[in-house]
Amino acid sequence: MEQKEWDRLAENYHEEVISPFYGDVENPLFDELKKIKNRKNKLVAEFGCGLFYLGETLSKQFKEVYAFDFSPAMVKRAKEKNKSCKNTKIGVKDIRKMRYNNKFDIIISVNSIIMPSYNDIDKSFRNIHNALKKKGIVLMILPSMESVIYNGSLILHKQLEKFNESTAKRTAKVKFENKKYDFFNGYYTDGSERQKFYYKHEVLLFLKKAGFKDIEISKVKYPWGKNISDYEDFPCEEKLWDWFVKARK
Ligand SMILES: C[S@@+](CC[C@H](N)C(=O)[O-])C[C@H]1O[C@@H](n2cnc3c(N)ncnc32)[C@H](O)[C@@H]1O
Repeated sequence: MEQKEWDRLAENYHEEVISPFYGDVENPLFDELKKIKNRKNKLVAEFGCGLFYLGETLSKQFKEVYAFDFSPAMVKRAKEKNKSCKNTKIGVKDIRKMRYNNKFDIIISVNSIIMPSYNDIDKSFRNIHNALKKKGIVLMILPSMESVIYNGSLILHKQLEKFNESTAKRTAKVKFENKKYDFFNGYYTDGSERQKFYYKHEVLLFLKKAGFKDIEISKVKYPWGKNISDYEDFPCEEKLWDWFVKARK
């Protein structure tokens, strides 16, 4: 999705975007932030901050806080929302064109590197690596392709309980919007908008290529419910997830 589309979403973000910051989400980010020692002497940044939900939390815990987004409308709303955070600077910047070197102790990116171009993703990971100080930490959340496929399997198995195999496969594909996915590239395309979803092995590849070490990948888990999945609810099954990444420069 390009900048203008995000500008449009800034107005009704809550209704249109699934977020790991509201609802009953199991999000390891907050515990990971607490584990960072000597926070009051450290510089933290969020790249692709949107409305900057983390503003207050980060402002209370860290020495200086920076937040950037390439959408001027998001930045305007983020500034309004975080007016009281005195140690915080919020500005318009594109992750693909960031030119920071060895500046931040911690960089956070939450579902912001979701552009479809592999070159853009590569640049974004490298720019985050460059912007971190030596031994700095990146904390990232990235959409999971495996979670999407898992959801598809749950839909298929439910159809198999009701129909013969060929009917079940056909109806499941329609319900799952199979035509909108490109499983090789990890893309979901809806009209003119295309979003990247990541396989776990790809997350590792991008991180290693950018030079990251000590890579740990776990899950942000979302509760079942219509806020999370447009398809169907499976409250007795394992939850859907995004990838949670912790890595070191
Ligand atoms: C799904 S929202 C997440 C916002 C925020 N991180 C949160 O979790 O609430 C994705 C955000 O990334 C921003 N974004 C996407 N591509 C970007 C880029 N190349 N440079 C900077 N920001 C970008 C969008 O404008 C949008 O605000």
